[in-house]
Amino acid sequence: MKALILYSSRDGQTREIAFYIANQLKEARECDVLNIQLVNEVDWSQYDRVMIGASVRYGHFQPAVAKFVKTHLNALQERSSAFFSVNLTARKPEKRTPQTNAYTRKFLMQSPWEPDSCAVFAGALRYPRYGFFDRIMIQLIMRMTKGETDTRKEVEYTDWQQVTRFAHEFAELPSKLQ
Ligand SMILES: Cc1cc2nc3c(=O)[nH]c(=O)nc-3n(C[C@H](O)[C@H](O)[C@H](O)COP(=O)(O)O)c2cc1C
Repeated sequence: MKALILYSSRDGQTREIAFYIANQLKEARECDVLNIQLVNEVDWSQYDRVMIGASVRYGHFQPAVAKFVKTHLNALQERSSAFFSVNLTARKPEKRTPQTNAYTRKFLMQSPWEPDSCAVFAGALRYPRYGFFDRIMIQLIMRMTKGETDTRKEVEYTDWQQVTRFAHEFAELPSKLQ
């Protein structure tokens, strides 16, 4: 059976991570990658495992993530499943676990879905691609948290080795389906 990876991404980093994971898995199993905002129906009979990845903006995941979880809760619970979040707080290694990353901890606490595996990845900071308001806001947050404040810069903090480990962990989850 196939694996399904759903992503929620505004600026592309989570999407890139989702496709990277699919690529890591391709030796082991076939994988579909879908934008969670564009998914209506899912033919669950094709999939024995599912992963959701979502980025944080101004403290929140996109509402489509919680909505998908609510709509497809049974299918998620019946299958081996994983969740990863992407944010800039996680550029600090001590904020890069589901327990120490506040957005992820809160999401998991409030969610009725209990993924079997969970990770937090550092995202990317791409000042030149942001609109004026977002650029000023992110710069302010970066100043307060002692991060990069040069608005000419694009910095990718994602630890791709961490992503690779997570992909293999996901592939090795035992199938829950008969
Ligand atoms: C407008 C905006 C707001 C953001 N808000 C937060 C935030 O509240 N906390 C955080 O840790 N990272 C925040 N980030 C960083 C993003 O999570 C990070 O850039 C991530 O890589 C975005 O993923 P995406 O490209 O898949 O959307 C923000 C980024 C932008 C552009």
